Amino acid sequence: MCQRPAPMIAPSILSADFANLADEIAKVGPSDVDPGVDWVHVDVMDNHFVPNLTLGLPVVESLLKATDIPLDCHLMITDPGRWAPAYAEAGAYNVSFHAEATDDPISVARDIRAAGGKAGLGIKPGTALAPYLDILSEFDTLLIMSVEPGFGGQKFMPEVLDKVRELRTKIDAEQLKLIVEIDGGIATDTIEQAAVAGVDCFVAGSAVYGGDDPAARVASLRALATAAR
Ligand code: DX5
Ligand code: ZN
Repeated sequence: MCQRPAPMIAPSILSADFANLADEIAKVGPSDVDPGVDWVHVDVMDNHFVPNLTLGLPVVESLLKATDIPLDCHLMITDPGRWAPAYAEAGAYNVSFHAEATDDPISVARDIRAAGGKAGLGIKPGTALAPYLDILSEFDTLLIMSVEPGFGGQKFMPEVLDKVRELRTKIDAEQLKLIVEIDGGIATDTIEQAAVAGVDCFVAGSAVYGGDDPAARVASLRALATAAR
């Protein structure tokens, strides 16, 4: 029935200990008993596009030296055309920027790809998908926010799943190569509905790093998403 690859889990280090990021990432990395997570999600916030400030390129460059897990950089910043390509150039695997932050998402995506990265388009909960449906081939991932961007630990907004379903239908009908990623409020009580709606890649911050044993928490999320499919 479902030909899609296994669900991907991308822990967000926003909820990790910022003084020990390399160790925190290693906790969800490969081990003798576990292949580890697919991506590590890195939230870049500039205190302009969102009312919060996190980290930027120098920290990402250090993380790239500290882990082999592909980094999924989520840029919640204004003027992504100016900053996004440098993340790809540095070696970030996927670089997502926000549709609301630019008038020219195609050129930003092309610059990211030209710099060697995968290009992702992020859309806030209130942003419609329709204007972007004809330019999906410019992107490798579509990051659907299921909370208002800016902070971890917020409540999942199930209404965004309509956009996930719409996107899934189009991707399947046209056999597009596009990863549907969801970000915000993903936990053991929400991941199944997102998986059923058609999400490929699940970002989870507080649900992974909000307690002991992040690897076990990843395993639970992965099992629920796989079963729900
Ligand atoms: C929020 C960030 C998310 C955040 C998710 O703006 O983009 O990646 O870390 O955190 P949780 O999983 O706790 O909602
Ligand atoms: Zn994020």
